[in-house]
Amino acid sequence: MSSPNPSADFPSFSSPGTDPGSDKELSSTQALWRIARALPLVERSYAIIRFMILRVKLLATMDLMLPAEGPILDVGCGFGLWSAYFSQMQPGRRIIGIDPNAHRISMAQKVAQQLGVQTEFYAEDVRQSAARGPFRAVYLLDVLHHIPSADQISVVSQLTDMLEEGGTLLIKDITTKPWFGLKFTEILDRAMVGMKEELAYRHHNEWSELLREFGYTVRVVRVPDVLPYPHVIIAATKGKRPVAQAASGLN
Ligand SMILES: C[S@@+](CC[C@H](N)C(=O)[O-])C[C@H]1O[C@@H](n2cnc3c(N)ncnc32)[C@H](O)[C@@H]1O
Repeated sequence: MSSPNPSADFPSFSSPGTDPGSDKELSSTQALWRIARALPLVERSYAIIRFMILRVKLLATMDLMLPAEGPILDVGCGFGLWSAYFSQMQPGRRIIGIDPNAHRISMAQKVAQQLGVQTEFYAEDVRQSAARGPFRAVYLLDVLHHIPSADQISVVSQLTDMLEEGGTLLIKDITTKPWFGLKFTEILDRAMVGMKEELAYRHHNEWSELLREFGYTVRVVRVPDVLPYPHVIIAATKGKRPVAQAASGLN
């Protein structure tokens, strides 16, 4: 895999995406439907479930935290749903997705081709990734808890090396409290991955501490849901003093 060139000349887009068919502004919901329609039936059903879990408001929050242009790494991209979403919302982004599941990667490539978005996908485990960066942002959406606890710190270290100074490490994951929220999520995760894989959830304060030790300034928000998912978004800025450091203090 070749390293992306961060100094490439990207146009500066600051407004939401444009529907290539009509030149009209593309809403978040329209962008998601375009992704769903590009997938075969089984994968489309999975995508719609993911869209219902993640919700437009949560995606819009993450969208604002990501840079509007430049190279961005999507770790554990799966079917590339969010690469396709975030690159439709800001076409100046160049999103590189990695995931060890080759079937998901080939689907991600097909969807991206159909939508004409600026993305690349590679079938690889983050722990052996050839990606080097520097990236303006790296994000992991419901991926960190699928990485064994013994490897999580070295993965964070590796991703930190790939980020440019001032770059953003954006994590959407599940926190460990309240316990029934965690149990609810764990049951659904187990239904997806079976009983053998380790599910390595950590409390968001533990993640915040770890990230600070890597020199990040960290902000955390819990994202409420009608279902008991204990969603949390952790936005970490590499090596920069915070404008308003807001560790959540939530338990
Ligand atoms: C719950 S899915 C989330 C997929 C996608 N981020 C999304 O939100 O739809 C977790 C993904 O993490 C990927 N994954 C698990 N271990 C990984 C690793 N070591 N390196 C990269 N990706 C990994 C899985 O293959 C799977 O696609």
